[in-house]
Amino acid sequence: MDELIKLSNDTFTQIRDLIYKKCGIYVQDTKKYLIENRLQKRLQEKNLRSFEDYLYLLKYDTANEHVQLFNLVTTRETSFFREPLLLDAFAKTLLPQVLKSKNGGSVNIWSAGCSTGEEPYTLAMYMVDASGGRASGRILGTDLSRDAVESARKAVYGDYALRNTSPDFLKKHFIKTSGGFTVAPQVKRLVQIEEMNLFDDARMRGVRGMDFIFCRNVMIYFDTPAKQKLASSFYDSLNPGGYLFVGASESLHAVSRAFKPVAVNKAVVYQKG
Ligand SMILES: C[S@@+](CC[C@H](N)C(=O)[O-])C[C@H]1O[C@@H](n2cnc3c(N)ncnc32)[C@H](O)[C@@H]1O
Repeated sequence: MDELIKLSNDTFTQIRDLIYKKCGIYVQDTKKYLIENRLQKRLQEKNLRSFEDYLYLLKYDTANEHVQLFNLVTTRETSFFREPLLLDAFAKTLLPQVLKSKNGGSVNIWSAGCSTGEEPYTLAMYMVDASGGRASGRILGTDLSRDAVESARKAVYGDYALRNTSPDFLKKHFIKTSGGFTVAPQVKRLVQIEEMNLFDDARMRGVRGMDFIFCRNVMIYFDTPAKQKLASSFYDSLNPGGYLFVGASESLHAVSRAFKPVAVNKAVVYQKG
């Protein structure tokens, strides 16, 4: 068995700072073991004997190695139809309102930190249902992790991803394939998946005119200044009156006062004033 390569506190701090600076993810001291464990295989693949050598690689092969690092440090837990109260608020109340106000115009939705695609495809299914199959709009799904983006584009899912999917939705919006289930063409054609870092200012400035932004279970990995920066970027990306959804356990309290919290049944969403 290969011996575990040890990560010193000093090198951990430097790797942690680099991750934080590049993508807002703040790795607590108590999570040092996670970095140590998750990066072992990568060090072996690159034939490196120490984390100091790895740090050197990170500094000088930024284009390739940052992609690998982001794949390894991100947590990509997700599923179709996650957090039903929030989805009800979207599908039963807010989406119909926005569709009506647009009077046939296109609705733009962004799933920011979409992981392997379950969230944007879930939203697309509601959109298809709400508009009688003639959905007009676009759902942009973006994620930092290249592995996640590749899976999202393939859109083939197994039982675990579908654990909260009702038989009705399964029948209407999925097609059985050899590897599991894939989303039906009327759903897939609404969704565009892109690799994107939410702290890439130039890319963020390119996303405008959104009616809804979903950024659920992403900011939990960020500290307050990073959350504040992101909330301000989302504000600029939304149309006036547009909605920001954060995860069921998250809140914009102490993060942003620019948004108005709106209670929709038991869910809280944030509206741009
Ligand atoms: C736990 S998943 C949440 C997926 C989905 N939003 C949900 O709630 O089911 C968090 C995702 O955020 C992504 N992420 C973390 N930091 C990011 C950043 N700086 N830019 C873009 N995506 C990021 C991760 O790659 C991961 O796929």
